[in-house]
Amino acid sequence: MGEVVAVVPAAGLGLRLGSDVPKAFVQLAGKTLLRRSVDVLLGVDGLALVVIVVAPGLVSEVAEQYADEATLVVAGGAERSESVRAGLAAAVQAVPGARYVLVHDAARALAPVELACDVVNALRAGAVAVVPALPVADTIKVVDAAGLVTATPERATLRAVQTPQGFHVDVLRTAHAQQLIATDDAALVERGGSPVHTVPGHPLAFKITTPLDLRLAQALLAEQ
Ligand code: CTP
Ligand code: MG
Repeated sequence: MGEVVAVVPAAGLGLRLGSDVPKAFVQLAGKTLLRRSVDVLLGVDGLALVVIVVAPGLVSEVAEQYADEATLVVAGGAERSESVRAGLAAAVQAVPGARYVLVHDAARALAPVELACDVVNALRAGAVAVVPALPVADTIKVVDAAGLVTATPERATLRAVQTPQGFHVDVLRTAHAQQLIATDDAALVERGGSPVHTVPGHPLAFKITTPLDLRLAQALLAEQ
């Protein structure tokens, strides 16, 4: 028991969604995106603590809301990587014996608990870093600053990756030690040369980014 900690970066502004509250606090069928994402993690066997990372001005309010649960609320930074680093530091301090850490975007509010369990099981089976990955439907182009296409990577080699991403705690700490910025945590682990494994991703773990994504999430929940 208690060998897993989790970090939920929820300190973003949600500019692409364009809502009047930060994206993590947008309501989806009566619950916020953050509430749903925290519940995904609390459903994982062996989970000791979920560290929720929010904008500095929201820490005390959110801490009050989650006071009766296995959570800790800390302030994030201007970049997602900075928010994850703040959460990771707090998680390690609060649970020094933790072996594994899950990092899960508040914005992936419909991710199934089973996906998080798959990631943890891959860690328990020996992987040091695990990402859920799905084949991409679109052809992906590399473009330059002028918008000219410079390359077309072969689609069969490409994957769209999701969260929760899972790591040995020491591996993620080392990866974040250089204070670098990347769009996911696995990218920092890759730079350090550690192998990053994939498990099959899940369509419901899509990132709620735009108003269209939010409508899709609402429609899916209305069906249930
Ligand atoms: N995030 C964070 N700290 C930041 C930026 C993002 O904790 N400085 C979190 C977001 O709250 C979100 C996750 O990282 O749960 C993924 O980021 P994204 O989907 O880009 O969310 P936002 O940054 O909020 O949205 P946008 O980029 O449209 O402003
Ligand atoms: Mg963002």
